[in-house]
Amino acid sequence: MWPTSSHPRAFHERRQRLVARFPGPVLLPAGSSRPRNFPANRYAFRAESHFLYFVGRGVEDAALLVTDGTATLFAPEPDPEAAVWTGPTPSLEQLSEQLGLEVRPLAELSPPPNTATLPPQDLPSAFWLAELLGRDLEAGDGANLEGVDAGLADAIVDVRLRHDAAAIAQLEQAAVVTVAAHRAGMARTRPGLREAAVRAAMEAEIIAQGMTTSYGSIVTVHGEVLHNERHDGLLGPGDLVLADVGAETPEGWAGDVTRTWPVSGRFLSEQRELYELVLAAQRAAIDAVRPGVRYLDVHRTAGRVLVSGLTELGILRGEVEELLQRGAGALFFPHGIGHLLGLDVHDMEDLGDRAGYAPGRERSDRPGDRYLRLDRDLEPGMVVTIEPGFYRIERILERAEEVGELEDALRRDVLGKYASVRGIRIEDDVLVTDGAARVLTDALPKTADEIEALVGA
Ligand code: GLY
Ligand code: MN
Ligand code: MN
Repeated sequence: MWPTSSHPRAFHERRQRLVARFPGPVLLPAGSSRPRNFPANRYAFRAESHFLYFVGRGVEDAALLVTDGTATLFAPEPDPEAAVWTGPTPSLEQLSEQLGLEVRPLAELSPPPNTATLPPQDLPSAFWLAELLGRDLEAGDGANLEGVDAGLADAIVDVRLRHDAAAIAQLEQAAVVTVAAHRAGMARTRPGLREAAVRAAMEAEIIAQGMTTSYGSIVTVHGEVLHNERHDGLLGPGDLVLADVGAETPEGWAGDVTRTWPVSGRFLSEQRELYELVLAAQRAAIDAVRPGVRYLDVHRTAGRVLVSGLTELGILRGEVEELLQRGAGALFFPHGIGHLLGLDVHDMEDLGDRAGYAPGRERSDRPGDRYLRLDRDLEPGMVVTIEPGFYRIERILERAEEVGELEDALRRDVLGKYASVRGIRIEDDVLVTDGAARVLTDALPKTADEIEALVGA
């Protein structure tokens, strides 16, 4: 178990950094827990990330007001009746002491006019916030914020982009547990089990360490379905399992790791060839992570290694630079090399591309680039994922509009020999430092030999 949360000083300093960039009044809601099938049966409460960042703890139905340089948390008074069902909750005085922050009853909240805010992700929380602010709120699309809210969003992006020491400590904890989960998944794998059994072993490790998953676990023999969340497939002896699973710390910080391993504990030779190619692309991309480097170029580095390797294997035919120009990489690696990681697994994606794309940069609509979630110049303190893959996706390979003029570059006869590979992805969480990148999840082995030794062991 992970005993502690960050010191209240860390949150005080974050609030100071926000005030320095955005002096106007700010209201950040924690949000509410969401009902499942009837009001009393609810999903576990998970506060809005912008709230967690500045407060450090999810306090349901509370809101943080920052005005004139002073932060006050407005929270509901504990309900003595609710204590019968859910146990005691701290008084507002106790909460104030624990958080190092003034706490007032929610009923006293009266936000000044022109208070800036950011839209919560669910409609009931959005309506609740609108009521507090006495204004109509457009739900949802954080990318289209205007006026004071846009100013606040830009300020928060600026504060949250580079992680402070407390955040890095949290990401390290998430990484440790995420690594343990992957080891447990590899150890549990055997032919004849369902994917769900491997998922259960991985999530059991996360739960036993007092954490939750940071997104819906992907544990599948159909790795070519990029965000496959089914777990009912059988593990066949010749299959590869692709597991994309991450832990979230009690303070809300995410791990996001993918490994791909053979169900039998032995890669078939053609599986190993493609696995080693994806690994080479991942290593090259991690080596490219340096301050001042444009993330798009990290993406391109991985694409170049993949396309070059695919020509060596004979799956692609042609000259590498020309194939890259023609977008051939996207036939097998259609997604981006990664994204920001922090409190959100795709950090601050509630704000659309505002966080991932530097001002003046926009998402390209080219195949292979259009799913790239980040294109900033890297700076120390940023944490990004590096997650290249190789996928045989029928929808891409069978459709003329996807393959188009690349048909001549694609050797379908050679590709046919790699039928035992559906999807391979290798993903790690990487901290940008002043020098070489630090891989937060590097305790998890990834060479083919190391992986084989862990499966079913
Ligand atoms: N787990 C989702 C992703 O890797 O982006
Ligand atoms: Mn992932
Ligand atoms: Mn990821």
